[in-house]
Amino acid sequence: MELIVRPGKTLFGEVGNHSSFALPGDKSISHRAAIFAAAAEGESHIENFLVSGVTQVMVDCLAKLGNTFELIGKRLIVNGRGIRRWQSSAEPLDCGNSATTMRLLAGAIAASGISAILTGSEGLRHRPMRRIVDPLKQMGVPIECTEEGTAPLRLSRRIGNNLLPLEGYSLSVASAQVKTCLLLAGMSSPGKTVLYEPGLSRDHTERMLRRMGVPVHSNRVRRNGSEWYETRMELSQPFDFPTLYMRIPGDFSSAAFLLAAALITPGSNIIIKGVGLNPTRTGLLEVCQAMGGNIQVQNVRDEGGEPVGDLVVQHSHLKGVQVQGEMVVRMIDEFPIFAVVACFAEGMSSVSNAEELRNKESDRIGQLCRELNQLGAHVQETTDGFIIHGKGEIAGGVAESHRDHRLAMSLAVAGLACRSPVCIRDAEYFRESFPDFGEIFKHLGADFQWEGQ
Ligand code: S3P
Repeated sequence: MELIVRPGKTLFGEVGNHSSFALPGDKSISHRAAIFAAAAEGESHIENFLVSGVTQVMVDCLAKLGNTFELIGKRLIVNGRGIRRWQSSAEPLDCGNSATTMRLLAGAIAASGISAILTGSEGLRHRPMRRIVDPLKQMGVPIECTEEGTAPLRLSRRIGNNLLPLEGYSLSVASAQVKTCLLLAGMSSPGKTVLYEPGLSRDHTERMLRRMGVPVHSNRVRRNGSEWYETRMELSQPFDFPTLYMRIPGDFSSAAFLLAAALITPGSNIIIKGVGLNPTRTGLLEVCQAMGGNIQVQNVRDEGGEPVGDLVVQHSHLKGVQVQGEMVVRMIDEFPIFAVVACFAEGMSSVSNAEELRNKESDRIGQLCRELNQLGAHVQETTDGFIIHGKGEIAGGVAESHRDHRLAMSLAVAGLACRSPVCIRDAEYFRESFPDFGEIFKHLGADFQWEGQ
């Protein structure tokens, strides 16, 4: 499906909390809520669940393990069997395009002791899985991947014996998916799990576990002359997950497209309500403010252990900025949309220390640079990032999503402020994480036209 975006419209209005034009629930928290609810025995209620491509595959996989789900609007009602009573699935579990589903489920299945095969789309079967397979093996989990270190992942049945505690494992990259996988695997065995990350990845799992009474502590520590983030969990017996009653905050990563669109589209003024503002996620907000972006944060409150607030965003004259180091982890999903913003800024912007972007839904360095240059931007690829020579404008033209939801949406946002229309091929991938993307943008005044539906 193609999306044609015509420039020249001003974005104005509100993306409400509970209205039909509401920001979708957070993807990462929705994934965790579905797994934790299935790990509990009994009925859980999750409000504002993200109903999208990637969360649907998570729910479908958990259903194959014997859990039942009912969706009423955006409320997900889960009847969990309890993690130690999950059933082995004869069929492989298809994780679609979702690495979060695959990596989190691998940890939970390791804790449950059942056998399973985890597979997914061709894109997902190229993404690195040794980062979970190696530490899970160290814990005694019978798991295998391909020789290339990719999916399918095969977990064999584990009978009787507890897993070995992972006391002091260093992750080669900061990754919330790996951290969550290993914490989940550690939930069924007594003992300590101590993990070290080179940067602080999103901490939704730790916040949710703490609310359930699990002692999980995070600290910045110095080891061998450098800074690490330590996550420490200690259990005296296998954990019994309680049922959940929670509301998922709005997804900052989806709000990022709206925020960026208002910043670059002349005359725009929008308010986005109910946005999750967990500091491990909001790097883009700070970077855009440093570029001169007029973004006000209002009405900050706590919702279920996560900070939530409203964002008021106006069109702004932006200048270039440098992004590196720890900031990279705090905006890891926002580089496609950041790059678009940087193209509309005046002056040079650069991103470094971001080689992990090459392992996302697409090579988010190579493909991103190629597509923006295709639209007339001046972007230089580097091994661990890119350099953008911002001219305050881009020409427009035809671009490809590379089956990457965030690339599709970022290119569409660029179209709002280009000199001529932008046509995005394979644009339907936006449904993976933000199914109402088109409707919400139209509600704010954007000129979006779909072809080949
Ligand atoms: C996620 C963690 C991040 C992020 C992904 C969701 C999560 O991946 O890019 O969209 O929910 O834990 P990594 O852990 O691979 O950095």
